[in-house]
Amino acid sequence: MPQAELYIGLMSGTSMDGIDAVLVDFSATKPELVNSHSHDWPADVQQALISARDIPDEELDSLSTLDSQLAEIFADACFGVLKNTGYQAHDIIAVGSHGQTIRHRPDIKNPFSLQIGNAGKLARLTAIDVISDFRTADIKAGGQGAPLAPAFHQAVFRDDKTSRVIVNIGGIANLTILPKDKNTAVTGFDCGPGNTLMDAWISRQKQQPYDREGAFAASGKTSGALLASLMMDDYFQLAPPKSTGFEYFNLEWLQQHIDKLSDKKIPGADIQSTLCDLTATSIIRDINKYASATDEIYICGGGVHNKTLMQRLQTLTRLPISSTEALGVHPDWVEAMAFAWLAYQNRHQRAGNLPSVTGASDTVVLGKYSAKS
Ligand SMILES: Nc1ncnc2c1ncn2[C@@H]1O[C@H](COP(=O)(O)OP(=O)(O)O)[C@@H](O)[C@H]1O
Ligand SMILES: [Mg+2]
Repeated sequence: MPQAELYIGLMSGTSMDGIDAVLVDFSATKPELVNSHSHDWPADVQQALISARDIPDEELDSLSTLDSQLAEIFADACFGVLKNTGYQAHDIIAVGSHGQTIRHRPDIKNPFSLQIGNAGKLARLTAIDVISDFRTADIKAGGQGAPLAPAFHQAVFRDDKTSRVIVNIGGIANLTILPKDKNTAVTGFDCGPGNTLMDAWISRQKQQPYDREGAFAASGKTSGALLASLMMDDYFQLAPPKSTGFEYFNLEWLQQHIDKLSDKKIPGADIQSTLCDLTATSIIRDINKYASATDEIYICGGGVHNKTLMQRLQTLTRLPISSTEALGVHPDWVEAMAFAWLAYQNRHQRAGNLPSVTGASDTVVLGKYSAKS
C-alpha cells in the first residue's frame, strides 16, 4: 500500500450553514474521503458573519477580531475531522482552508475577494501547514476567482464516454461542463441562486433556516408572472464566465421584481415555490444553452436534499439527473474535497484554476502558504 497523502479541506459557503471539514487521501488515482465532519457555527459568530455582510468596505479592518475567532473555530473543525481516525496533526500535509467570504468583487476597478479565518493562527493552533486565500491569484491573472471547484470536478468526474454536467447547489448554483471529448475545454460558471433566496425567504416567513425537503415550496403554487420577471434579470442573460453571490441575489433583489408586477400580493408559499422554480429553471436553461451535448447531470451541495427542487429539475429535462454519490463522491463533501485538492495542487506547485472557467489569462498555482511554526 502506498503511504497516505493526507490533506484536510475546510469549506464554509455562502449559506453560512456551518463548516464542512474533510480528510482526504490523495495517494491513489482517485482521491479517497477518509473522514468528514460538519462543524456548526456558534450562534453569535454566525450572527456576526451575517452582520459583516453590511459593513462598508472602508471598515473591513474592524473584522480582525472575527478573523481571529474564526481561526479557532476552523481549528476545532480540523480536530473534529481527525477525531477517531487514528491520524494526528503531523500525519497531515496541509489544510486547504477556503475561509468565510466577506466580499467577492471580481468586476470592480481594483478587484478583490476577501475570505476571513486567519490562516497563520489556524496553522499555529492545528500544528499543520495551511493553504488559504485561493481566489486572489486567479483574480490577479484577470479571472473571476470563482468558481474554483470545476478543476477538481474535472479531475474526479470527467469521463471519455459521457458528457457530464456537475451542478453544485450551495447558496449559489454553479455548473461545471465536462465534455467527453478531451480536446474540448471544460467550462463552468455561477448560473445564479442555488438555495440563498429560498433560505432567505423561508427565514423571513417562518424563521426557519431552510426549507426542509422543499416542503414549503411544495405547498405553494408558482407565480408565472414573478418567475418570468426574475428570469428576465440581467444576470441570467450575461454570457459566462460569470460569478455572483448574496450581494446580488438577496431579498431586496426579489422585492424589486415583485414591485414591478401588477399583482404584488403573492402568498408566501407561492413565492417559495417560485424561488424553487427559479433555481431549477436557471440551471436547466443554462445546461440547454451552454452544454447542449450533455448526456448526464450530477448534483452536489445542500440543494440535493431539497426534494421539491430535485423533482422540478427533473421535470424540466429529459437528461438523467443523479447525485454525485452515483460517481462515488458523497454530494455533501464535494466542495470541501475540492479545497483539500487545491491545497494538494499548491503543495505540488500545480495549477488550481481553469482559465476557461474563471476567465484568467493563464493557469496559476492558487493559495497562500502559512507554515505551522
Ligand atoms: N434537508 C434539506 N432540505 C432542503 N434543503 C436543504 C437540506 N439540507 C441542506 N439544504 C440546503 O442546502 C444549503 C447548504 O448547502 P451547502 O452546499 O452547504 O451550501 P454552501 O456551500 O453555500 O454552504 C442549506 O442552506 C439549505 O438551503
Ligand atoms: Mg455549507
